[in-house]
Amino acid sequence: MVKDLSVNLGGLQLPNPVIPASGTFGFGLEMAGTFDLNVLGAISLKGTTREARYGNPTPRIAEARGGMLNSVGLQNPGIDVLVNEKVPALRKIYRNGIIANISGFSVEEYADCCAKAAACGEIDIIEVNVSCPNVHGGGLAFGTSAQAAAQVTAAVKAVCPHKPVFIKLSPNVADIVSIARACEDAGADGLTLVNTFLGMRIDIARRKPILANTMGGYSGSAIFPIALRMVYQVAHACHIPIMGCGGVTCGRDVLEMMMAGASAVQVGAENLRNPFVCPEIVAELPLLMDELGIDNLKDIIGTV
Ligand SMILES: Cc1cc2nc3c(=O)[nH]c(=O)nc-3n(C[C@H](O)[C@H](O)[C@H](O)COP(=O)(O)O)c2cc1C
Repeated sequence: MVKDLSVNLGGLQLPNPVIPASGTFGFGLEMAGTFDLNVLGAISLKGTTREARYGNPTPRIAEARGGMLNSVGLQNPGIDVLVNEKVPALRKIYRNGIIANISGFSVEEYADCCAKAAACGEIDIIEVNVSCPNVHGGGLAFGTSAQAAAQVTAAVKAVCPHKPVFIKLSPNVADIVSIARACEDAGADGLTLVNTFLGMRIDIARRKPILANTMGGYSGSAIFPIALRMVYQVAHACHIPIMGCGGVTCGRDVLEMMMAGASAVQVGAENLRNPFVCPEIVAELPLLMDELGIDNLKDIIGTV
């Protein structure tokens, strides 16, 4: 029997649940020569702010056991270039879900950027990053307080009433459920769980941090069990769809994330190690489904 990999994400029908995570796949276009992008269920684009940003000083990548650290600091060309150039160019070659990932340094900036993204017909979902650990005075500051996360959610929903808004949460909190609930109550249409964990490495010869920014976001296969636990906890507490993210490297991880409650699954750092990991996972899923007697992938969502 032909396997059905399709899922519904906040009203958007995706051919499969596999999505490259923001910041690990550029604006899609950079990867167009690597494989046919249309095998991907959706693409989450690089985090975008109101103004263009050069990002943090280098080095801003460090290797680490089971993953990597990054302190890229939201390098991006700004929201106007995203909606006027990047997204229209991607849409010419890509027919599935396009997710704009938006960051800001104030509630007003989040709302301004999201309003522009909402007005762009080719953008299907807006993912609001309240969890970037690599910029000062923005990002994470909003994602570690239930009140601030709710304030951003409400401001964004007020200007994006007709577009699905997913709030991307930080794992750097004691109680992710209370923040997820606050976002749901404030009108979020969905949640992305999780962003990177704050981490650090030291160059022992120089006796200095490896990253110019001292600390950075840790992600990759090592964080998978923690991300999975958070998806599971939030899925049992909230009623809105979840994009699971964190340490996913293979089809089996996708199934675990979905059983824990994710409607779709993002792959991040592994794209930097193996640029073909997403198409490989899409090809692996029907084989795993066959082994496990699953005909419709959506049937396993939240079954654990
Ligand atoms: C190099 C790099 C850049 C990232 N940039 C962003 C970003 O701009 N916006 C965002 O929401 N998340 C960003 N992330 C976080 C990822 O989207 C993802 O949430 C995180 O890495 C966990 O997934 P993983 O363990 O599969 O990497 C970035 C991650 C990496 C490795």
